[in-house]
Amino acid sequence: MTAIGVFDSGVGGLSVLHHIRQTLPNEHLIYVADSGHVPYGDKTASYIEQRSIALSNFLLSQGAEAIVIACNTATAAAAATLRRDFNCPIIGMEPAVKPAVTATKSGVIGVLATTGTLESARFAALLERYAGAVKIITQGCPGLVEQVELGELHSIRTRELVERYTAPLLERGADTLILGCTHYPFLAPLIREVVGEDIMLVDTGAAVARHLKSRLLTELPDHPTCRVETRPTELFFTSGDTTQASRIMSLLWGEDISAQPLPHAFANG
Ligand code: DGL
Repeated sequence: MTAIGVFDSGVGGLSVLHHIRQTLPNEHLIYVADSGHVPYGDKTASYIEQRSIALSNFLLSQGAEAIVIACNTATAAAAATLRRDFNCPIIGMEPAVKPAVTATKSGVIGVLATTGTLESARFAALLERYAGAVKIITQGCPGLVEQVELGELHSIRTRELVERYTAPLLERGADTLILGCTHYPFLAPLIREVVGEDIMLVDTGAAVARHLKSRLLTELPDHPTCRVETRPTELFFTSGDTTQASRIMSLLWGEDISAQPLPHAFANG
């Protein structure tokens, strides 16, 4: 059984963890929600880098053999540093520009993401590489991550924000919306209600899980994945309030979760 460490600024990365659990049903998963520092979207790259190093050190101390950065913002800010400093597979993620370019019929794509992701050099390089003749309109979404952190997936306030952020994209002809933050897939039912059935919603959770599996098979051949004899286990940690985290994570994971406190040295480092 391979231990896989997964982290995000908060509970959003659970949308990726769902795909990882489906793709790798027998592995030990250790998840850290950095809820004491959420949101990452408006923090500096060096702050996020520092947090990503602390969380990765914690995950390795728990026996993780591979790390998934289940956060677009942290990938943009810290993936290169983690790959340089840590000697294990580091799997990052980025907004699904490539699949969206393939999917669009109108030739206009909207990207919903954090300001940090949209302003990053990594995102600029992604557009440069894949956009081609397709028009890509970006939309930062301040406040949306916080709504998911509160478990407010259908509240009036959340709907208002979703309407405000999607309207300009639809007005300009987007037929495909990229959910470029791992918190947003939890809002997909609400976004679908707001934008209607004809708009395509794309994210990269499933692709990240497939990529993780292939990396494990090639880079950790002594730890074959998908063995049937082991019992899957999950551990959940938070740098925020454990009662609040347990409540929201249980809601989003679909099972009762008891979130453990991230040890002090890693929670504030
Ligand atoms: N879930 C994160 C992402 O994919 C970060 C959200 C935030 O903390 O701002 O970008």
